[in-house]
Amino acid sequence: MSDQNMKTKSVNEKVISPAVIKRLPRYYRYLGDLLKNDVVRISSKELSQKMNVTASQIRQDLNNFGGFGQQGYGYNVEYLYSEMGKILGLDRDNNIIIIGAGNLGQALANNQDFDSNGFKIIGIFDVNPKLIGMTVKGVEVYDIDMLKDFIAHHDVRIAALTLPKSKAPVIARELCDLGIRAFWNFAPVDLSLSEDVIVENVHLSESIMTLSYRIHSKNQ
Ligand code: NAI
Repeated sequence: MSDQNMKTKSVNEKVISPAVIKRLPRYYRYLGDLLKNDVVRISSKELSQKMNVTASQIRQDLNNFGGFGQQGYGYNVEYLYSEMGKILGLDRDNNIIIIGAGNLGQALANNQDFDSNGFKIIGIFDVNPKLIGMTVKGVEVYDIDMLKDFIAHHDVRIAALTLPKSKAPVIARELCDLGIRAFWNFAPVDLSLSEDVIVENVHLSESIMTLSYRIHSKNQ
């Protein structure tokens, strides 16, 4: 399944729209900041002013998961943050392997933010003998030939693909055969994998083109 047709179900089996899902990490970030600033509770109106979305949008979004707010009280920040974390699956170990230890793979491995959200990079794989054996932020770069054995002995939830686009589809299929069901795909290629596989594509070049379109259409 690609992120274009992403759908998920809440606890009450309701289908959650992709637009709502895309907004959840932003709620989580804002709530985390509030928590750091010792804010105990917040109304949907106050949250909406901070986030620049309507209060009714916030209520509707959160109602997909059962609400969490109390009339006249608003939201308990710590509770909502924790519940939002559970909804996002951040309350469990999310071990990641990176395939491709080049510029982007190393940049991802160097990013400290993942750890604090329960994402742990546990191995990086490459074909280049010059990279194999090195460590990036304490994570070892292994020979791609070790992939099967590594997956058999570790609980790998996500594979990040930061290798050339010509190689990504083949590696993705191999990873599927080894049981990987979630891909964070940075290679500029659409992966066609089986229905039960989740692919989240991250393409900065598409994002800059969207920005370019918006600049262009504003100037017309
Ligand atoms: P890079 O050339 O620095 O790194 C690619 C690495 O993949 C190399 O270390 C290479 O040895 C390794 N590799 C090649 N074949 C492999 C295989 N079969 N198994 C394991 N590793 C293999 O390239 P860079 O700049 O890190 O880009 C990596 C990928 O990410 C490219 O597809 C690039 O187009 C894409 N990219 C995507 C961005 C995005 O926003 N989504 C941004 C920048 C790059």
